[in-house]
Amino acid sequence: MDMTDERWRYTGEYSREVFGRQDAHLAGLMSEAVAGGLPDIAVSADVGRLLMILTSMTRGKLAIEVGTLGGYSAIWIARGLAGDGRLITIEREPLYADFAQAQFARAGVADRIEGRRGAALDILPQLATEIEAGSVDVVFLDADKTEYPDYWAIVRPLIVAGGLILADNVLGAGSWWIDNEDDPSRIAADRFNRLVASDPDFEAVAAPLRQGVLIGRRMK
Ligand SMILES: C[S@@+](CC[C@H](N)C(=O)[O-])C[C@H]1O[C@@H](n2cnc3c(N)ncnc32)[C@H](O)[C@@H]1O
Repeated sequence: MDMTDERWRYTGEYSREVFGRQDAHLAGLMSEAVAGGLPDIAVSADVGRLLMILTSMTRGKLAIEVGTLGGYSAIWIARGLAGDGRLITIEREPLYADFAQAQFARAGVADRIEGRRGAALDILPQLATEIEAGSVDVVFLDADKTEYPDYWAIVRPLIVAGGLILADNVLGAGSWWIDNEDDPSRIAADRFNRLVASDPDFEAVAAPLRQGVLIGRRMK
């Protein structure tokens, strides 16, 4: 059967209906964020659940997120961490970072999430000097798509064997899709996908959930 726009829309709605169960706080978080001036660009609940499940399949000790927004995906990731696990999440917009911090407290995960404020390409190199190579269990990329190949170059050595590289929007976003040849985000997402897919130490796929989630695992 051919894929149509209508069928793709239904597929997304179906996935969110069946796999998007969430508590009242998470269900209302993005409406509150939008009322507070944040853009409505968080992952969907089914993608959030995927992040939680995948995180819980690692040692769950240390995770890094690039692109906090209002803290929605960070709360899902934090819920997949081990009891003593920690998430460092990076956001350049102070308004968004403040909003997220309040949500972490409400979700009861503030003790396991550290927010770092600033541009990812300033913060990640700093983190790389603080964190031992091969000690990060999960990296989730969800900030500037044109910078994904640069984020990858910095975070790759930090990921432990058995750890995961996860990235949202690897097949598209609101304004582009992977078949729009000239879009800078598309070009960078394609470059990133191919870098991870061809890395001899990683195995990866892009799951076509919502706008495409890359799931890569360090095998050695
Ligand atoms: C798609 S939103 C993140 C959504 C969030 N991960 C969620 O699902 O709840 C992208 C976020 O990345 C931030 N961002 C974009 N470019 C950035 C950069 N270069 N450095 C740090 N943050 C950035 C934006 O301000 C925005 O809050």
